[in-house]
Amino acid sequence: MRKAVVGAALVGAAAVCAAAALVVRHRMKNSSKWAKAMAIIKDLDDKCATPLGKLRQVADAMTVEMHAGLASEGGSKLKMIISYVDKIPTGDEKGLFYALDLGGTNFRVLRVKLGGKEGGVMQQEFEEVSIPPELMVGSPEQLFDYIAEALAKFVATESEGLHAEPDKQRELGFTFSFPVKQTSIASGTLIRWTKGFKIDDAVGKDVVAELTKAIKKKGLDMRVTALVNDTVGTLAGGRYYHPDVIAAVILGTGTNAAYVERASAIPKWHGPLPKSGEMVINMEWGNFRSSHLPTTEYDVALDQESLNPGEQIKNHVLLQIYEKMISGMYLGEIVRRVLCRMAEEAGFFGDVVPEQLKTPFILRTPDMSAMHHDASPDLKVVGTVLKDVLGVPNTSLKVRKVIVDICDIIASRGACLSAAGILGILKKLGRDSLKQGEKQKSVIALDGGLFEHYSKFRECMEDTLKELLGDEVAGTIVIEHSNDGSGIGAALLAASHSHYLEEEEYY
Ligand code: GLC
Repeated sequence: MRKAVVGAALVGAAAVCAAAALVVRHRMKNSSKWAKAMAIIKDLDDKCATPLGKLRQVADAMTVEMHAGLASEGGSKLKMIISYVDKIPTGDEKGLFYALDLGGTNFRVLRVKLGGKEGGVMQQEFEEVSIPPELMVGSPEQLFDYIAEALAKFVATESEGLHAEPDKQRELGFTFSFPVKQTSIASGTLIRWTKGFKIDDAVGKDVVAELTKAIKKKGLDMRVTALVNDTVGTLAGGRYYHPDVIAAVILGTGTNAAYVERASAIPKWHGPLPKSGEMVINMEWGNFRSSHLPTTEYDVALDQESLNPGEQIKNHVLLQIYEKMISGMYLGEIVRRVLCRMAEEAGFFGDVVPEQLKTPFILRTPDMSAMHHDASPDLKVVGTVLKDVLGVPNTSLKVRKVIVDICDIIASRGACLSAAGILGILKKLGRDSLKQGEKQKSVIALDGGLFEHYSKFRECMEDTLKELLGDEVAGTIVIEHSNDGSGIGAALLAASHSHYLEEEEYY
């Protein structure tokens, strides 16, 4: 019995030891997994670092590329597109104008009644229509017919107070937020699609001609008098209210900037010099690239697997890489890629990598933002997004905190880089320093969902810009949210370039 008891005790002791060893091994395994996961994050953090010195190099590179892109066609990856907008709205515009704002998964149709200096924007109406995903990758006819249909329906709802004059053709400002080589204020050919659109047949075609064809098919009496990028529309919309607006930046699904240049300072402009002396330039800064950009393997992989990949030369030349590091279409996807690697290489979410986590673009930037802003003590929102969106249930607080850190690394890098881009523009315009005795104020009109809804991104961008500029200069720069400026701006540009105005604006 005793023996047996001893035996049993021995067996028991052995079992306890084995179990303890298992727990220790498990812990060791877990802690080495954790260490591996932390190493992945440390590496990410190092590669994404944006110290002020690096941001200054990025800003300088942006200024250099701006000069190069202005000097000649193809002189830089920055397209520096001449917008033909040389009459920025002054406030004198009068009458009823339409706008169509297309640049993402939704488009908007608007009409505004302008009442000149006294009246301003007297009345406006708009409607938002979403684009079925199949039309984003279909044929140009399908897309433009669909848009013209919505436009016709909208025109049909003109009311007593807001209708076109009987003897006048309706005029439309068309905001088309993709890279377009403008050939005049009301024509331009599509260079390539961005932001998830891929209608190959439309590339190289005049988008106004395509839209006009569709408008005619619907029997609408309407003429496109201005074709503008959303940055250009936002700039015009901003300038309407603030004469000191010198540039506009979009931080949304995509990112881009436009600014007001001296027409005489554009070597590649061969047209007559406008009396205003000004010309708005659409930079298409999403395609900016520089060896100073803090690029990671996640960015390279994202680029190569995107709808618009760049050529991969020495693992580094990527298409629209600045946009892919900054804008709303991509931030969530970068975070997902980091998490996926941590799951695969460090078992961060357990032994099985959930299928959802492996699905590209499943983590949208609004979800990333919700996690990043989660202020609850147990990071409830993070837990919910992980479970519902990425298929990772039951996460510990420790794991959730790590997720917030990753969101912070990726969002901060994007925000800092966009601040550096703005500094690049200010440098180009000589507004990054104070001139003796001059009282200068520079307003930059900002718009886009990322800027509007992702507060931590916006704050980081604004704080970084201030730091880069220093207190004194920062005091002369105003970032102004130009809410939905691109639509109104297009209508205003249709007005300032109206077909009914006399053409006497050139020397
Ligand atoms: C993309 C487009 C650009 C647009 C920007 C913001 O970068 O190429 O034309 O201005 O998105 O919508």
